[in-house]
Amino acid sequence: RYVLFHESIMTEQDVQLPLYDRGYFFGDGIYEVVRVYQGKIFALTPHLNRLKRSMQEMDMPMPYEAETLAKRMQEIVDANDLTNGYIYVQITRGAEERSHVYSQELTPVVTGFAQEAEVPVVLQQEGITAWVADDIRWLRCDIKTINLLGNIFKKKEAQDAGAQEAIMHRDGTVTEGASSNVFIVQNGTLFTHPANHFILNGITRQYVINEAEKAGIPVREEAFSLEELAASDEIFMTNTSFEVTPVTTLRGDLTANVPAGEITRTLQRAFDAAVE
Ligand code: PDD
Repeated sequence: RYVLFHESIMTEQDVQLPLYDRGYFFGDGIYEVVRVYQGKIFALTPHLNRLKRSMQEMDMPMPYEAETLAKRMQEIVDANDLTNGYIYVQITRGAEERSHVYSQELTPVVTGFAQEAEVPVVLQQEGITAWVADDIRWLRCDIKTINLLGNIFKKKEAQDAGAQEAIMHRDGTVTEGASSNVFIVQNGTLFTHPANHFILNGITRQYVINEAEKAGIPVREEAFSLEELAASDEIFMTNTSFEVTPVTTLRGDLTANVPAGEITRTLQRAFDAAVE
C-alpha cells in the first residue's frame, strides 16, 4: 500500500513515525476523511477548507500548501488504484520532548492513506438503530481533532446495545452523532443543530442543507430537544462514509420507531445524483 508521509508518497514500510509525536502523547492533531467515488475525490475543496480551519483553531501552521496536499491525495488514490473508498489524512503538531505546553517551531507530521470501502446501501435502504446518550465531549467539537475519546465511548455503548450509531444530547438538546450529524423532519421542515462549537460542521451536512434548499424543502439550523427527536416524522444522519442514512429505531435515553420518509428519500436521491 502506498501512503502519504510528510510531502511524499511511499510504501508503508518506509514510514518512520516519530516516537515523541504529540499526536501520540496528547491526541494533538487534526484529520479529515474524504470520499472517493470511481477514483475521483468528492468535495475536496470543502474538506481542505475545513482542514485549514481546524489547523487555525489549533494554532498549527500548514506544513505546506493545500494545493500540494490536494495533489498528494489524488496521487494516493492513483498509486493504490482506489475506485470506491476514502482517504484519511492526519496532521499532528509534531514531535518534541513531552510537555503540555507546545513549542511554536515544531514541524507538523502529515500522514495519509487510502482505504477501499463500499457505500452501505442496505443500511441506507432499511435504516439504522441509533443509541441516544449524553454528549460527554469537550466544548470545541467544531475542531476535527484526532482526540475522539468522547465519541469512541458513545460508539462502544451503541455497539453494545446493537445500534449502528449514537445520537448525543447535552441536557436534552440533541447535538450530533458520534461520527455524523443528525437531522429531523417536522411537518415538512428540516431541522439540524447550528454549526457552532457543539458540533462538527459536516461536509455532508452542508451538502444536504444545500440540496434541500434547492429542492424547496425549508431548512432551519436550530437545535431540537429529545422530545422533538422522538416525535419527529423522519430522522436521518449524514457523514462521509454513509452519506444520508435514515434512523428508524431509537434506543437508550429514548425509545421510538420512526419509519424512513419521503424527504429522506429525496435527499438520498439528490446525493446519489451528485456522486454518480
Ligand atoms: N466523521 N460529526 C462528527 C463528530 C464526525 O466525526 C463526522 C465525520 C461528522 C460528519 O462530517 P462529514 O460529513 O464531513 O463526514 C460529524 C468521519 C467520517 C470519521 O471520523 O470517520
